[in-house]
Amino acid sequence: MIIILLGPPGAGKGTIANEIQRRIVIPVIATGDILRNAIDKNTEIGMKAKNFVRSGKLVPDEYVIKIVENRIKEFDCEKGFILDGFPRNINQAKALDKVFERLDKKIDQVFYFEASYQNIINRLSARRVCTKCGTIYNLKYDPPDKAELCHKCNGKLIQRDDDREDTIKKRLDVYNDETLPLSNYYRKKRILTKINANQDVIAILKDIWNRLAELGIGENRNDYGNYKN
Ligand code: AP5
Repeated sequence: MIIILLGPPGAGKGTIANEIQRRIVIPVIATGDILRNAIDKNTEIGMKAKNFVRSGKLVPDEYVIKIVENRIKEFDCEKGFILDGFPRNINQAKALDKVFERLDKKIDQVFYFEASYQNIINRLSARRVCTKCGTIYNLKYDPPDKAELCHKCNGKLIQRDDDREDTIKKRLDVYNDETLPLSNYYRKKRILTKINANQDVIAILKDIWNRLAELGIGENRNDYGNYKN
């Protein structure tokens, strides 16, 4: 199963990707996480990407496309994967189509998350991320047990550099100009499903699961469990 999660910053793509992965063990390829990791480790790509990520701009396509192409060729992606944050513009989408053609793979579905501006701002301003294991928290909607610590691994929780108000606005502008047109690109290919991302996490998961079942991908499911880190 190959699915793409498309949507504005803070719509909940990363949270849902992790919840899907917990239920059907397939890798999540999140380009934002890969780039932040490279920045923390000061790798060559990290050094090139740093200023783009911190200022809310897109990292040049040539770097990101290569990262994704190499990652999806790895052994653990054979049975499928979730793309979170890629593609981010038409050029990346076309490049992905070419890679899939070469690898004889196809996109099963693109889930397009729609969330209100107010929800996006509320979610991003209260987001905290574990520096050790990457678990995503929210001070309002999914608070950690202890204020600054991850209750999974005891790692320190931080606010992302690009979750400052001015950078959030920049990221939203970039999203509207460059990423939003992808919804039409995939609608025309008839592989787009709109998701109401204003709902709570379990309701969003149910919608995704029902759609996958309708398409005959993945198993039917009645028990979604709870959502709590
Ligand atoms: P990236 O990391 O991909 O950021 P993004 O797309 O802006 O998305 P976010 O991670 O901010 O939001 P999300 O939708 O995953 O929300 P989350 O689940 O965390 O990219 C960062 C940067 O990297 C880019 O700006 C760019 O510079 C670079 N980059 C990345 N990919 C690139 C590419 N392909 N090309 C070029 N450059 C690239 O949720 C947010 C918060 O809300 C959390 O606190 C969560 O707990 C909470 N929450 C989630 N869902 C719900 C819900 N349903 N109800 C209540 N709260 C919720």
